[in-house]
Amino acid sequence: NGGCVVAVDGPSGSGKSTVSRRLAVALSARYLDTGAMYRAVTWAVLRAGVDPSDAAAVAAVCARVSLDVGTDPQAPHIRVDGVPVDGPIRGVDVTAAVSAVAAVPAVRAALVALQRKIIVAADRIVVEGRDIGTVVAPDADLKVYLTASVDERARRRSGENMVDVDTTAADLRRRDQFDSTRAADPLRRATDAVELDTTRLGIDEVVSRLRELLGVRA
Ligand code: C5P
Repeated sequence: NGGCVVAVDGPSGSGKSTVSRRLAVALSARYLDTGAMYRAVTWAVLRAGVDPSDAAAVAAVCARVSLDVGTDPQAPHIRVDGVPVDGPIRGVDVTAAVSAVAAVPAVRAALVALQRKIIVAADRIVVEGRDIGTVVAPDADLKVYLTASVDERARRRSGENMVDVDTTAADLRRRDQFDSTRAADPLRRATDAVELDTTRLGIDEVVSRLRELLGVRA
């Protein structure tokens, strides 16, 4: 990839999606939401009636579905075997099951390969996830690791989902714990990533800080 790749990693609710999309628009770049890809496979697993903790059955579902991922930061979309799943992948059922599906090594191998293809095909792209700086794009031009306090992250997510803050906080803690301790490509900061705590920062501040880091005049 001769172009520019920005890797944005961090836990749920750290501001990754909003910041990554806004940065991609500002840079006239593409945008890839890798969490949506794990969620889409999870949707297919649930629709097939497969138990998300049955790794072999989950891997089989992943091997037979085809994902179509749109990378326009103004209108990202994802389809599973031609079916748009942008709404359902944000539902509580998918959110509860996604970490188990994302821990299956065969699922990660398939999705990481697809992510690398999309990255190579783009001239400029902002990619968000958990393992972008460490595994998917270790040669990214800029690696960012966003954090925020659990309370702030729960407050943000709760506003989006209309689920109460305490339930959301419990779900975030569970997924953070699961995502950071799994054997395959766990969530962790790349040693060369810039860490940014967004607890007290507005979106504009985070985006302009990243543009400064990229050497783009704000
Ligand atoms: O970012 P989002 O909350 O949509 O991600 C959903 C889940 O997908 C995460 O909790 C994690 O289990 C998984 N994921 C992952 N690797 C990525 C992106 C997401 O394992 N690169």
